[in-house]
Amino acid sequence: MVQYNFPTTILFGEGSLSEGLRRIKKMGLHRPLIVTDETLLKLGMGDFLKKECEQHQLVATVFSDVHPNPIEEDVILGAKLYSQERCDCVIALGGGAPMDVAKVILIAATHEGPLSKFDDAKGGDKYIVNPLAPIFAVPTTAGTGSEVGRAGVIIVKDTGLKTVIFHPTLLPTLAILEPSLTVNLPAHMTAATGVDAFTHAIEAYFAPGFHPMADGIALEAMDLVLKNLSLVVEDGKNLEARGKMLLAASMGATAFQKGLGMVHSMAHPLSSECGLHHGLANAVCLPGCVEFLENSTLTTDQKIRLLKVSSLFESNVLDKGKLSQSIRNWTESLGIKIGLSNHGVSKENIEVLSDKAVLDGCHQTNMIPVNKGDFVQVFNSVM
Ligand SMILES: [Fe+2]
Repeated sequence: MVQYNFPTTILFGEGSLSEGLRRIKKMGLHRPLIVTDETLLKLGMGDFLKKECEQHQLVATVFSDVHPNPIEEDVILGAKLYSQERCDCVIALGGGAPMDVAKVILIAATHEGPLSKFDDAKGGDKYIVNPLAPIFAVPTTAGTGSEVGRAGVIIVKDTGLKTVIFHPTLLPTLAILEPSLTVNLPAHMTAATGVDAFTHAIEAYFAPGFHPMADGIALEAMDLVLKNLSLVVEDGKNLEARGKMLLAASMGATAFQKGLGMVHSMAHPLSSECGLHHGLANAVCLPGCVEFLENSTLTTDQKIRLLKVSSLFESNVLDKGKLSQSIRNWTESLGIKIGLSNHGVSKENIEVLSDKAVLDGCHQTNMIPVNKGDFVQVFNSVM
């Protein structure tokens, strides 16, 4: 017996933000903590949302001390402010980092102990016992899909590792997909976050396990990304394509409840050890990981899955080669520099990166099992 969940309420399109705030008020909530980051604050987005809240009689406090790869200290500071201001919910405004921090702030505000205690890989979810206030998610990037997810990823103090903290009640009550809020994202970030959305979908589609609903959503998400990402990289103000990318990102993350794979296990240490942007790390590793699969012994079903994704490239970007090469060509066409050595990573880092990739849980659902030797090989191939 299995259980399938697609539970997030998603508001999509122009007017979603004001409808979302109306619903927050209607739920009897009054004092949201807006969790965002410095970049968005400088762009005036924090103040904009605070004013929008005021128009709906919500008294909001803005918190923006969030690192691009969030650390435990961010969460602790946010939780302090949350309690000090007597907040009753959080509104996450931004990309993956503010969303992750917003979720875990609610845990830190109501539970004792270092965040390593709640590490999902070690069964830490059993310590999340106190009720958590509602979370509302307003993405300003189309990538992470954290707005439909039940996890926050934080670099915890005790181990220095990117650590997944998971609980069903971390699922946002509402995901608010307002396309106009994503138009400020610069082209290179649009490209990197968009490839993250694609990576969620392809890794979910390749993950073993019987989940045709997630598979269907993953395929449609990849199709949407291939059709729209180049459009928004070229013209950030294309609202229709921006909207479709937002949906694709939510769909990619909905699909990856089936699992992720070795690309994410490589991307996580690339961020924690070498400071790479998450989407960029995925973009650089993805072709090498697909090539690794192409060179492995696969079942007929697995080969068909590779062919189906190839056919999406053929129909959307008219690229008929090997899938790994199509992906490489496509990411380069988006302006992403292939090769880890172009992003400050050197061969000497590979040993530590591979050790940490093995410790990461995502590769447990890779299409085929992988070991440290495989990670060393693929890291070398994407240098
Ligand atoms: Fe990701």
